[in-house]
Amino acid sequence: MIFHVLTLFPEIFEGVFSSSILKRAIQKNLLKINIINIRDFAQNSHKTVDDKPYGGGRGMILKVDVVERALESISASAEHTILLAPSGKKYDQKKASELSAKNSVALTCGHYEGVDARVEHFVDEVISLGDFVLTGGEIAAMAIIDSVARLVHGVIKKESLLSESFSPATSLLEYPHFTRPEEFRGLKVPKVLLSGNHAKIAKWRQEQAIKRTQKLRPDLILK
Ligand SMILES: C[S@@+](CC[C@H](N)C(=O)[O-])C[C@H]1O[C@@H](n2cnc3c(N)ncnc32)[C@H](O)[C@@H]1O
Repeated sequence: MIFHVLTLFPEIFEGVFSSSILKRAIQKNLLKINIINIRDFAQNSHKTVDDKPYGGGRGMILKVDVVERALESISASAEHTILLAPSGKKYDQKKASELSAKNSVALTCGHYEGVDARVEHFVDEVISLGDFVLTGGEIAAMAIIDSVARLVHGVIKKESLLSESFSPATSLLEYPHFTRPEEFRGLKVPKVLLSGNHAKIAKWRQEQAIKRTQKLRPDLILK
């Protein structure tokens, strides 16, 4: 799967994909990250990418013509194009799963006060990472790439994904995990996990997933 990332700050991505699971996915050619500098699509000698907002106000707005040219440059190889913005549809695991089925996705990162609203006409959808404002779309892009990449076939073992929080198989939070020591400051590992009885452990885990979800995220159960 290819991710094209359109950004004014390519250097932010240096190092992000060079460790752990994403590094291995790239080495195995399961994932490719193509970073595109939006500034390369500015046409004047000053390489201007932004301008003052019509109507007045603070901050600078990324220009629609520059962003459109950047998007056009990858139009042949981007199956799905996304603008990252606080006003977009809130990102979730369902969307991650949907995106993981695509061959290529382009993520457009805004910065400053945002992008000219007309950019929305040149992308397939607008996505928000959540109800908060980031300095730029880069961190949102990283979160999306990370969460989608782990669903791409071959990146992580299928069994590991099945019980994960928000998995379509259960829509629950995952059960709690424990590792050694058996007791820490009076906090004991649940006995059933030490029993070696796999059927009992599976049943306990399922119950715990339901209980935790009811307590922490009842909205998921209602869904
Ligand atoms: C400082 S923000 C602009 C915020 C905008 N003025 C507003 O109030 O909605 C600059 C850029 O960061 C990105 N961004 C900020 N918050 C985001 C979020 N919650 N989800 C996705 N992208 C976000 C967008 O690409 C946005 O264009």
